[in-house]
Amino acid sequence: MPWWAARRTSISMPGACLSWAAQVISQQDYRHATESNAVPAAAVRRRRSWRMGAGMSATAKPSNAVQVSELRRMREAGEKIACLTAYDASFALIEDRAGVDVVLIGDSLGMVIQGRGTTTPVTVADIEYHSRCVAPHLQRAFLVADLPFLSFATRERALDASQRLMQGGGAKMVKLEGGREQADIVEYLSVRGVPVCAHLGLQPQLIHKVGAFKVAGREDAQAEAMLHDARVLEAAGADLLLLECVPAALAKRITEAAHVPVIGIGAGPDVSGQILVLYDILGISPALSHGRVPRFVKNYMNDSATVEAAIRAYVAEVKSGAYPAPEHCF
Ligand code: KIV
Repeated sequence: MPWWAARRTSISMPGACLSWAAQVISQQDYRHATESNAVPAAAVRRRRSWRMGAGMSATAKPSNAVQVSELRRMREAGEKIACLTAYDASFALIEDRAGVDVVLIGDSLGMVIQGRGTTTPVTVADIEYHSRCVAPHLQRAFLVADLPFLSFATRERALDASQRLMQGGGAKMVKLEGGREQADIVEYLSVRGVPVCAHLGLQPQLIHKVGAFKVAGREDAQAEAMLHDARVLEAAGADLLLLECVPAALAKRITEAAHVPVIGIGAGPDVSGQILVLYDILGISPALSHGRVPRFVKNYMNDSATVEAAIRAYVAEVKSGAYPAPEHCF
């Protein structure tokens, strides 16, 4: 009996298959295949498809699917990262086709989908549901899902919510709001294999505590504190930082100090990438209808005939640096 057949028959536990595969590869190299010892390609294919599970090849992501390592490479190469929120399959398909690098299931869905005044009513079930709608339709873009209000108040809750969003929703990273006080949670998730984006600056989930949405880090002491928060969160394991409504000069300092990509929304041009809420760039957010247009919002439908053209224009302007222009910055 050739060695590969003996190896197959000696394995009865599915858990053993990874080491089996590793041994196939090393032994294949070692033996360098005499006619009788060579692993038949069909056997390798059969084994591979067994490991992947029936039907998985139909949904497998192509090799150009964006990963954390690609985001890091883009940051190092100075290539801007284009990020956008999405909440359903139709827009997910268009965003992916239009070249969006990172899609966020934001808790902004509380406002733009559910029509609430704030993000605080949004639940893990809501984010999981919308992640499930979006995830299967992204071939290339990297999917991040928000941990909603209080879902990461304890380590256990954060882990449970992350498990739901990653296993149930198909997200590849979770995002949570907060500064150094969240370092413990970030580390707890990160060492367990959960990639984390830490959201600093304006934190919409704090609305009932702070009373109003306003630019964060204008005062020197606040700016130093935010820079320190960014360092602490990165050291705790954050793979991505997000800055919302932060003066451009401070965002630049944080980006220069960080070793991970920094994504901005209302944080000026000197960051690794930009994110906006989909319905804002299409000019259809309820807030816009009520005449409240945040400074950093640009309506890309004004010069586009279709939704896809608008999203392509946004991506192109992020990549070229044309967005954000000075009038979008603080
Ligand atoms: O919830 C959201 O959509 C967000 C973005 C605005 C960054 O957090």
